[in-house]
Amino acid sequence: MDTLRVISAAKGQWTGPGVTTVTDVFGLSHKGTSPSSEQGTHEQVVFCADERSGLRAIIAIYSTALGPSLGGTRFYPYDSEQEALADVLKLSRAMAYKNALAGLDLGGGKAVIIGDPERDKTEPLLRAYGRFVASLGGRYITACDVGTYSEDMDVIARECPHVVGRTRAYGGAGDSSVLTAFGVFQGMRAAAQHVYGSPTLRGRRVGVEGVGKVGHRLVDHLIEDGAEVVICDVSERAVERVRERHPQVEVVADRDALVAADIDVLAPCALGGTLNDDTVALLRAKIVCGAANNQLAHAGVEKQLAERGILYAPDYVVNSGGVIQVADEIGGFDMERARAKAAQIFNTTAKIFEMAEEEGVPPAVAADRLAERRMSEVGRISTIWLGR
Ligand SMILES: NC(=O)c1ccc[n+]([C@@H]2O[C@H](COP(=O)([O-])OP(=O)(O)OC[C@H]3O[C@@H](n4cnc5c(N)ncnc54)[C@H](O)[C@@H]3O)[C@@H](O)[C@H]2O)c1
Repeated sequence: MDTLRVISAAKGQWTGPGVTTVTDVFGLSHKGTSPSSEQGTHEQVVFCADERSGLRAIIAIYSTALGPSLGGTRFYPYDSEQEALADVLKLSRAMAYKNALAGLDLGGGKAVIIGDPERDKTEPLLRAYGRFVASLGGRYITACDVGTYSEDMDVIARECPHVVGRTRAYGGAGDSSVLTAFGVFQGMRAAAQHVYGSPTLRGRRVGVEGVGKVGHRLVDHLIEDGAEVVICDVSERAVERVRERHPQVEVVADRDALVAADIDVLAPCALGGTLNDDTVALLRAKIVCGAANNQLAHAGVEKQLAERGILYAPDYVVNSGGVIQVADEIGGFDMERARAKAAQIFNTTAKIFEMAEEEGVPPAVAADRLAERRMSEVGRISTIWLGR
């Protein structure tokens, strides 16, 4: 049986066997990542290796101030352990902020498995991983992310009780894109209220970049609300699927065409980095609100948006419907309860816009502040002594 191993981040090499405490990972920079502020350090970073199955994984717990840390497991062929470490530190921190603003009693964590999921994902590897997650005693709860699916969570759950995002057959929440899309729509309604004075997209032109799992469901909500929709996607299949359901939807060639189009709202629902120096300069929309993680290509883009009078709904606030959906499994999954919670994204987004105006900062900064406030103020409650 392999033991937990801890890497020396400075050297970038596996050490062990045994558990070693490292301090130098905490010095790794989070600069330029979203959330934008620089508060705090990670509570715990664990390196896991099982030679026979080929498992090499890193679990990062940023904060358990609000409860056990929750975040998905990314299975990805990182070029180096250093790259994997940087990614998991950034992702786990972002989860803490997202879970805090989603109103969940959950902290933030994330895990990465280093490897090609197509080639390396096997039952022994997933089950070995499950045992390492179990060894944390519930301080970290895992879920799906890039390269992992609900079926994988069912396998991991054979070794570990701290797993959500499972299949419906096992009482899980199923495809989290259902409430992710619903939550983005709620955030967009709040943005419409802020800009146009009414919480509807009726009569507005909304450009959706990427009509995959989340994007195509967002289009459904928008059409139902009476919006005109323009889409783009690199996948013809994805475009066709939308056009079959909604023949009136307009299609443009690519992101550049969408950004330059005469639209009121841009909804980035493909990959990150849509908002950069060039796209912000060209953008005609008054609102940006979409599902993609890390929409701001670099720090400072949020200021450029504000200067151009474009209202940016922070990505991790409006795309939290998915985590709300899977987190609901912890109490026994109930879709209506989860949907009611995801509907709160409307109020949270509206509050962030108000706070941003009051404090004279971009909404991205206001969101970070609000998340930090909840982690600090609610997290402090657990210091009240309950007696023995
Ligand atoms: N699924 C969830 O519950 C969830 C939750 C939170 C955040 N997100 C984020 O939302 C985004 C979309 O997630 P998804 O689950 O719908 O993924 P997906 O892979 O199902 O869909 C992404 C779509 O974007 C398209 N695409 C890729 N590159 C493109 C480009 N350059 N231009 C136009 N289209 C492009 C793809 O062809 C695909 O159809 C991702 O950034 C994801 O991280 C998803």
